[in-house]
Amino acid sequence: MEKLVINGGKRLAGRVKISGAKNAVLPIIAATLLGQDTKSRLDEVPALEDVHTIAEVLRELGVNADYDAEAHQFTVESSNIVCWEAPYDLVRKMRASFLIMGPLLARCGRAKISLPGGCAIGTRPIDLHLKGFEALGAEIEIGHGFIDANAPQGLKGARIYLDFPSVGATENVMLAACAAEGTTVLTNAAREPEIVDLQSFLNAKGASIHGAGSPEIRIDGFSPVPYTEHSVLPDRIAAATYLCAAAAAGGDIRLTHAVPEHLETVLSALRQMGCAIVVDADGIRLRRFGPMRAGRPVITRPYPGFPTDAQALLMAASLRAEGTNVFVENIFESRFRHVPELRRFGADVRVEGRVAMVCGVKTLYGAPVTATDLRGGAAMVLAGLSAEGETQVFDSGHIERGYERFDECLGALGADVKRLEDPQG
Ligand code: UD1
Repeated sequence: MEKLVINGGKRLAGRVKISGAKNAVLPIIAATLLGQDTKSRLDEVPALEDVHTIAEVLRELGVNADYDAEAHQFTVESSNIVCWEAPYDLVRKMRASFLIMGPLLARCGRAKISLPGGCAIGTRPIDLHLKGFEALGAEIEIGHGFIDANAPQGLKGARIYLDFPSVGATENVMLAACAAEGTTVLTNAAREPEIVDLQSFLNAKGASIHGAGSPEIRIDGFSPVPYTEHSVLPDRIAAATYLCAAAAAGGDIRLTHAVPEHLETVLSALRQMGCAIVVDADGIRLRRFGPMRAGRPVITRPYPGFPTDAQALLMAASLRAEGTNVFVENIFESRFRHVPELRRFGADVRVEGRVAMVCGVKTLYGAPVTATDLRGGAAMVLAGLSAEGETQVFDSGHIERGYERFDECLGALGADVKRLEDPQG
């Protein structure tokens, strides 16, 4: 594996263009499987390891998928599906591979996918996805590490209530429901912007879906069109990461190609902590020169609440803030695994169940640390930027899964970040 080496203490200045959203592009790529003999072209596709993985999943099914990471373009010709099975080694690499279950069920009436296991941030069950498929008439069998879903008679529209507004379950059920006979109404659906983007893509592809972005989504069927083009929405978590980086290190940065409306809770928290933020036609500008101070408690909730994916990032930015910052994690049960690593910088963070308390310290000191997961790993980099001296972030491959050229983008803002081979990794 690789490691990132950061020489901290440099203020950030300059502009960064936010790439397309990882969490939007993965379900959209899964959605390209819908509709026999159709072609899709996606633009603003981020150059990420996870996109290569889902391209491999599609090819495994016999589909023609071409990913030009440099041009940020992904094309799919879904004339052929020769297999409706997704093997263990691919699902193990990336949980989001499970999002092909809905489209496969819709297209082939059958899908067999390796059970996604837990991961660094929690057990992550898939019961809500399966409950949705069953409501649409699929029979589900689980055995030998696989989930086998079968709908020999085809899927039938239904009214489906999600016990929790799960992002993945909302997407997977929307995708399957496209092929159902009649109308499907999904209630207590997740409202994330990535779901609105999926609806836009599906509607451009010939579906009739309304309501994404609200708790009730109505899916009225699908008449595939031969060719669809779609530009992926900007990544709000990547945007939050650069904002938190500038808050942590200090400086003056501007994000372009970011959607401020998708970042309201993050912008509000950063303002409370003393950052000057201006939103104008040219993007989002954040300045932070004076000391940071503690803000109101940060409580993660489904969108439009504060995103769980930004919790570790804001925590990293708060380590030197005056006073006590409180973080409550409501979405995933193990999402404080970055805390022991943050303490290596000399940070004062205590965890009690779902609550973490950060008492600001005057100085952080660079240290060897490990990236525990994607966002936890990015949080280590942010802490390294605001620490004195050298930080080494081991297992930085986790970070590459979610950020395009992270080291280069930070470098262009004036940070001293190098990516090196870790001979021991
Ligand atoms: C997606 C995002 C991830 C983000 C998360 C929450 C992608 C590829 N990933 O993950 O970055 O952190 O949303 O915003 O888009 N749950 C169940 N049963 C289910 C499904 C989920 O109990 O069937 C629980 C999960 O364990 C978790 C909570 O619901 O506690 C939220 O999960 P969910 O919204 O499904 O997250 P993902 O779609 O996996």
